[in-house]
Amino acid sequence: MKVIETVDAFRDARCRAAEPLGLVPTMGYLHEGHLALVRRARADNRTVAASIFVNPTQFAPTEDLATYPRDMEGDLEKLEREGVDLVFAPDSDAVYPAGFDTYVDVGDVANRLEGQHRPGHFRGVATVVCKLLTIVRPDRAYFGQKDAQQCLVIRKLNADLNLGAEIVVVPTVRDPDGLALSSRNAYLKPEERAAALTLSRSLHLAREMYDDGVRDTEEIRSRMQALIESEPGARLDYVSIADAQTLDEFDAIDRPALVSLAVHVGSVRLIDNALLPSRLGAG
Ligand code: PAJ
Repeated sequence: MKVIETVDAFRDARCRAAEPLGLVPTMGYLHEGHLALVRRARADNRTVAASIFVNPTQFAPTEDLATYPRDMEGDLEKLEREGVDLVFAPDSDAVYPAGFDTYVDVGDVANRLEGQHRPGHFRGVATVVCKLLTIVRPDRAYFGQKDAQQCLVIRKLNADLNLGAEIVVVPTVRDPDGLALSSRNAYLKPEERAAALTLSRSLHLAREMYDDGVRDTEEIRSRMQALIESEPGARLDYVSIADAQTLDEFDAIDRPALVSLAVHVGSVRLIDNALLPSRLGAG
């Protein structure tokens, strides 16, 4: 496994790599969710590249950039074990040299949900993913359904700017009790971890109601809200039941829907989602 820190050296290595090449972009502190993407990429491609870069432009000044968990040594061991060929691990100056001043703004789909609650977040994500896809030129790039809106933003970016990668979305990996794996779970104290289960529980409730024939989104949303409000350790940011492609909010579910939510637990903000009807294995 080759670990490369500069854009020029990565381009060089990429030229010599066997095709097809699959890319797994990450911000590190890798867990089984990230590794599911790596394994899928390993199964699909002759060369697997992963990137580790905590991207400053997708964090607001009030967010957790400085304290975002990091473990480069542990991450490299995990990637080596999964048979990754190339790791791109640039520092901030390599990605954003002095004078950097070009950003990518994806339209409508980036302005809802997380876009509304974290202004500028998807601008940072789209800018760095655009750079990664341009530098690495992967045949396929792998993203997690855990960040469902991010997947929609990246699909749009890839299509609108003709970046030419096949975007592959991998199902959410969860702990046995239902909590979606996230690097930010590392911040949760034991009692907060228990409160964090309200996210997956409320999604489970939505799925049960849907399976029982309920289509009215107000009814589903208010039951989810009540469940989250009954957990004193959790504070709801939003619940959305929207068109799974456009994120237009639904009154009634008559097409595939994305149920998504954001909840504060202690100092941590967690997101999770489910598709209705559930796409096989896409929970
Ligand atoms: P990061 O949060 O490190 O996640 C990297 C990738 O792993 C994303 O595609 C994310 O959706 C996926 N992932 C995280 N948790 C997962 C889980 N429990 N199951 C399945 N996949 C999971 O997302 C980012 O980094 C950044 O925004 C990035 C795309 C790298 C741009 O900076």
